[in-house]
Amino acid sequence: MHILTTGGAGFIGSHTCVALLEAGHSVTVVDNFVNSQKEAVRRVEELTGKSIKLYEADCCDRDAMEKIFDENHFDAVIHFAGLKAVGESVQQPLRYYRNNIDSALTVCEVMGRHGCKRIVFSSSATVYGVPDEVPLREDMFCKGCTNPYGWTKYMIEKILMGLCDSDPEWSVVLLRYFNPIGAHESGRIGENPNGIPNNLMPFITKVAVGQLDHLNVFGNDYDTPDGTGVRDYIHVVDLARGHVHACDYAMTRTGCDIINLGTGVGYSVLDIVNTFEKVNGIKVPYVIGPRRAGDVAACYADPKKAAEVLHWKAEKSLEDMCRDSWRWQKNNPNGYSA
Ligand code: NAD
Ligand code: WQD
Repeated sequence: MHILTTGGAGFIGSHTCVALLEAGHSVTVVDNFVNSQKEAVRRVEELTGKSIKLYEADCCDRDAMEKIFDENHFDAVIHFAGLKAVGESVQQPLRYYRNNIDSALTVCEVMGRHGCKRIVFSSSATVYGVPDEVPLREDMFCKGCTNPYGWTKYMIEKILMGLCDSDPEWSVVLLRYFNPIGAHESGRIGENPNGIPNNLMPFITKVAVGQLDHLNVFGNDYDTPDGTGVRDYIHVVDLARGHVHACDYAMTRTGCDIINLGTGVGYSVLDIVNTFEKVNGIKVPYVIGPRRAGDVAACYADPKKAAEVLHWKAEKSLEDMCRDSWRWQKNNPNGYSA
């Protein structure tokens, strides 16, 4: 298959490009590099020994997207492109709604015009909002999101469902990711956040490498085994492999499925810190602080549907995630910048 990955230079996109190329597919990337660097794509080529056609363009730019589709035949699109920082989305809601929704609409419109009607979309466990119960199943009612970023994912899911209802030729897979961490085991590609990270694992690796002083643990008074927040951390290489399965699945049927990509296992903040210290032999100083606004006590997936429908399940351990995150950070203290 020839797959277009929008946002393919980003954290999850770059790992997915490796998985697609290793599975024998051809890959084209379109990215505007608002949160990534070309070097990531170059390293994917280096890792796989295969080449990628790369377009620097904004997915909201209709003319640019038309040109990309005029010049290529794609069997499917994986739409990763989007802004993803929860806190920033609260500060800049219009930018988030504009970028995420406009890019999804433009990509779908251009796809439809070119007769390419298979799309895998990067949704998020954030659409579950504040859960009444865990594990989270795809058929649970989503009562609402807690921030504009989450709403963009919720709305794009609805847009893609409506598209399937309107036209039986569309094949849509909505993947709800839980908490992706880790990096390719080569240490050549990984997560490269701008500035001070918001998410737990990149914050821990920045502390471990000495760029930040200590980790602030956001609350230890939750109703969880050790009082700290529990999440479903999934290795990005497992997640990437899930996309290959999702593309295969999208070829076999039409309609729309929502599918969780998680491990089904919840770990606490202190589980992550302790495992990171143990497998890497490095201390991560931390201070217990207040809860972060908007956080929930526990969030983890019921991963059964992915196993049944995609024939996929996560295989890597928390130890692998901690080891691979650290290898990437240690080998690339400044990310993709020299
Ligand atoms: P990322 O920021 O590393 O990758 C997103 C990529 O999209 C970047 O390369 C960015 O430059 C590009 N991009 C953004 N807007 C664009 C536009 N208008 N046109 C072209 N390119 C654009 O993020 P990621 O962690 O790889 O996430 C990929 C997708 O998965 C995002 O949609 C994100 O919301 C979603 N997601 C991420 C997580 C997570 O924790 N990382 C969890 C759930 C869902
Ligand atoms: C994990 C745990 C924090 C940082 C976010 C988005 C979600 C999805 C994945 C995109 C929580 C604790 C964190 C720190 C801490 N992204 N923590 N100190 O909030 O589960 O999910 O990323 O779709 O939409 O909301 O991930 O990594 O920020 O937090 O104690 O410095 O670590 O309280 O319990 P989260 P996270």
